[in-house]
Amino acid sequence: MDLLQNNNIHIISDLRLVSKTIISEGYSQVYVLIDEHTNEYCLPLLQDALVDEEVYFFYLEVPAGEASKDLSTCASLWESLSEYHADRKTLLLNLGGGMITDLGGFVASLYKRGIDFYNIPTSLLAMVDASVGGKCGIDFAGFKNQIGVFNTAKHTFVFPTFLQTLPGIEFWSGMAEMYKHALIMDRDHWNTLKDLERQQIDAELLEHSITIKARFVESDPLEKGDRKKLNFGHTIGHAVESYFLENKKAIPHGIAIALGMVCEANISVQKNILTLDDYDEIEECIKSKYEFPKIASSDFEQLLDFMQQDKKNENNAINFTLLTGIGSSIINQTATNEQIVESLRYFFSK
Ligand SMILES: NC(=O)c1ccc[n+]([C@@H]2O[C@H](COP(=O)([O-])OP(=O)(O)OC[C@H]3O[C@@H](n4cnc5c(N)ncnc54)[C@H](O)[C@@H]3O)[C@@H](O)[C@H]2O)c1
Repeated sequence: MDLLQNNNIHIISDLRLVSKTIISEGYSQVYVLIDEHTNEYCLPLLQDALVDEEVYFFYLEVPAGEASKDLSTCASLWESLSEYHADRKTLLLNLGGGMITDLGGFVASLYKRGIDFYNIPTSLLAMVDASVGGKCGIDFAGFKNQIGVFNTAKHTFVFPTFLQTLPGIEFWSGMAEMYKHALIMDRDHWNTLKDLERQQIDAELLEHSITIKARFVESDPLEKGDRKKLNFGHTIGHAVESYFLENKKAIPHGIAIALGMVCEANISVQKNILTLDDYDEIEECIKSKYEFPKIASSDFEQLLDFMQQDKKNENNAINFTLLTGIGSSIINQTATNEQIVESLRYFFSK
């Protein structure tokens, strides 16, 4: 709990804490960044909580979906802030999923060399992962998160009630990151999560997952070492996400990561560092929860191309975090193209 408080991450049951914090920190203007879904489902709850408070908000809306996490959207947001004469004492409130917190954090970090931003994550994925840890950025030239900065939100307010309106597929997308936190370092957390249904995910479990992420971030803010464990599932996952984005059939981030985790667990088995029993348990849990889109084997080369471009690579080798067990992981691993293709072939053969 102290860890979260020290990092200004607040798990709240009353949104009035947001306006109280804004008032106490004395901003000249407050902008709320939303997409059309968080405008419809989440903004009214925030507005209700602000009725008695003396904060006036401006609203900046972007279309929902990963395609908005791009340079042209940034340019139009910077134009709006400039037109409204937003000064350096302006606050940007990012009310949305990971697309909004990544985009808003990036826009705030560069506007006038940096204005404050708060994250108010509204998707499960953003609550347990994207809104924590200071990675802000946009997709560029067809690659995920190609341009970005490390910059931490002044505050992050996690209000679990927002999850009530989250579509099912987006909920399970967020669960993938919770599974990841468990798989890389906490077998007990995995044992708790693996059989749970949606309605059983509560504030306590969210706090547990956020704490795992926050611990990695605190010990290694710039991802030079152990924080790379959080990249488990993301080497293949990001390639899969970029592949579908390029083909204009974007899939939720966590679905791509779930697929990536199973494949990267398979590579761990091929390298004899994970037992087949542990692999089977992971595969069975994840395949029972998700429906994955097909990728033809003729397109595996294209996935390898995306992996070659991954910013996590070092010395021209594709870099992985792999599992050494359920609840333990190892960073800076490599795999041959054959091992990667074999993991994909096995995944799609069943
Ligand atoms: N910065 C990081 O450390 C980090 C970590 C993981 C993922 N990410 C990024 O996060 C993004 C994915 O985040 P996401 O899955 O939240 O995607 P998202 O922001 O696109 O949200 C998914 C969908 O859910 C809708 N939505 C959000 N909250 C809602 C609510 N309460 N009720 C109804 N609808 C709601 C959104 O409008 C959107 O349509 C990706 O861009 C990924 O790269 C960043």
